Amino acid sequence: MNKIRHLAIIMDGNGRWARAKNKNRSYGHSKGLENLKNIIKKIVNLKIRYLTLYTFSFDNWKRSTVEIKYIFSLLDNYLNKNYLELKKKKISVKFIGEQNRLPLKIKKLINIYNNRNEKRPKLHINIAFNYSSKKELLNAFKCIKNKKLNINEKTVNKTLYTKLFPDPDLLIRTGGHKRLSDFLLWQISYTEIFFVKKLWPDFNSKDLSNILRNFKVIKRNYGK
Ligand code: IPE
Ligand code: IPE
Ligand code: MG
Repeated sequence: MNKIRHLAIIMDGNGRWARAKNKNRSYGHSKGLENLKNIIKKIVNLKIRYLTLYTFSFDNWKRSTVEIKYIFSLLDNYLNKNYLELKKKKISVKFIGEQNRLPLKIKKLINIYNNRNEKRPKLHINIAFNYSSKKELLNAFKCIKNKKLNINEKTVNKTLYTKLFPDPDLLIRTGGHKRLSDFLLWQISYTEIFFVKKLWPDFNSKDLSNILRNFKVIKRNYGK
């Protein structure tokens, strides 16, 4: 039986979910956040230690200012409101992604969380925000070059944003598309990937349990 230490999720489909209900895309994002709160509860109960969430991609800057501002405000409100609650629940929150171009308010929030150290967290949440896997890799290569280190797997792993996390065991993408959209390209070389048709606001803890049941019995070969 496979154990799961690290789950990564591409939470896709908020916009289509809202459109199907004749609402605007922002409404879909707020429902998406509500759903995320439930899924996090489930993940804590399941004792999964690491969770990486694709929340805003570098390419999502191509969206309307209204939508972008709304996504930023959702993040800002949630993390400001739940600062103490998350600490109480021993949930550590860290950010991965590019910091430049982000509003000052968001940068401050990221710094507060990135510098907060929980003692023995129950769950480590990694928020991929303004994240691009290609940019992450380029930054790592530049950093290795500047420090005049050898380029090998170890030095790359150590210079990625995800350096403190094991590679994901399982990646779930909701919303029906079978693509990675520039997410964790290096880290998922042996990750089990599940593409789910359901849109993110509809994805519930039963769906997660079903996937985990299937994941557990997969024979992971690693080339053997
Ligand atoms: C994912 O849902 C959330 C973000 C990208 C922030 P989408 O907003 O991409 O929803 P769809 O794919 O357009 O339905
Ligand atoms: C990926 O979804 C990013 C997030 C879920 C945050 P997108 O909706 O941006 O991906 P594409 O554009 O369909 O590939
Ligand atoms: Mg999408």
